[in-house]
Amino acid sequence: MKIELNENKVFLENKGLKKEIHPFWLRERIDGDKYIDQITQQRLFDPTELKNNIKIDKLNLSDDFLEVTFNDGTYNKFNVKNILKEFLNDSYNQNVAKVKWDSSLKISNNFNFEENIFEKKSMYEALIHFYKYGFVIFKKVPTENNFIVNFANSIGSVRRTNFGEFFNVKSKPNPNDLAYTSLPLAPHTDNPYRNPVPCIQLLHCIENEVTGGLSTLVDGYNVSESLKKDYPEYYKILTETKVRFQFIDRSVILENWSEMIELDQNGNFKQVRFSPRLDFVPLIDKEKLELFYSARKKISELYNSNKYRIEFKLIPGDLIMMDNHRLLHGRTRYDTNEGNRFLQGCYIDYDSTEGKLKHLKRELNI
Ligand code: OGA
Ligand code: ZN
Repeated sequence: MKIELNENKVFLENKGLKKEIHPFWLRERIDGDKYIDQITQQRLFDPTELKNNIKIDKLNLSDDFLEVTFNDGTYNKFNVKNILKEFLNDSYNQNVAKVKWDSSLKISNNFNFEENIFEKKSMYEALIHFYKYGFVIFKKVPTENNFIVNFANSIGSVRRTNFGEFFNVKSKPNPNDLAYTSLPLAPHTDNPYRNPVPCIQLLHCIENEVTGGLSTLVDGYNVSESLKKDYPEYYKILTETKVRFQFIDRSVILENWSEMIELDQNGNFKQVRFSPRLDFVPLIDKEKLELFYSARKKISELYNSNKYRIEFKLIPGDLIMMDNHRLLHGRTRYDTNEGNRFLQGCYIDYDSTEGKLKHLKRELNI
């Protein structure tokens, strides 16, 4: 990819394809200190106030720089690299390819917590691992003083919910959610009744004295791609039917209508939602419902099957960070008579991990 000039026009040449760059596009990228606050990198001018008929009066191109004088009298020396960078898709979650996995996945790549890990290369690698597999496990994370909040806020910002800034997952009397019992939790995604659904869940093991209570994970992306291949009719109805997810307690009613498999505008995987304790399908035609129920049963079978589910025990200090739009998680039953089982959880959003990854890339020159 390179920049080329022809008379007073700037072109982007990419694999034999030549396209003119709009002069206004360049004009609003003027980056001298008269135009950009050098500390915040924010514009000091409002481009909507510029005249529309911006043209180029004079041009000069060297290896690294493009000099432009515009017809409103402004001049700028652009770094060619910066212009080219804008044409490359710079979003990590799109650039780091997802690796589909099933029960044969060996969890080997764990990251030990260390002082100041949030500014180190190991955090960068952990985040790349997260984008590939949809989860990453940190070991030996301090378990005192609700450290999970600290941890989350060192990557980005905690996404608070009506369960609080963080929540304690332990068996307790009068629970407002089955998570706060010793019952097994089949693979599910958290909080599908919220809009937007929390993107990333952190679960930190504080105590685990029981023999049961194993943690489970399923790659919802892999399962939905398998469903698409093997049961296209089922896949279709799950991607097309919006169901009502709801949560009700004494202080709030949360409802969100969404598909169990949500696709993006290109028809590609975007998000799974699955929590059969709190989904309500609308009263659609009987034939459609017939198909929907079979489809839901099938995807539930796949999510719960040994083919896709990994099972492992969290020990105190383990902190798992998982993509709540891609993965399902759960736990096996445990017996409260055997001792304590205590996890703490909280949520963060995608801008936290993406922002951190870009920051680390910049700081560490990766
Ligand atoms: C939850 C949950 C899993 C566990 O709190 O949302 O799924 O291991 N907990 O207790
Ligand atoms: Zn959960």
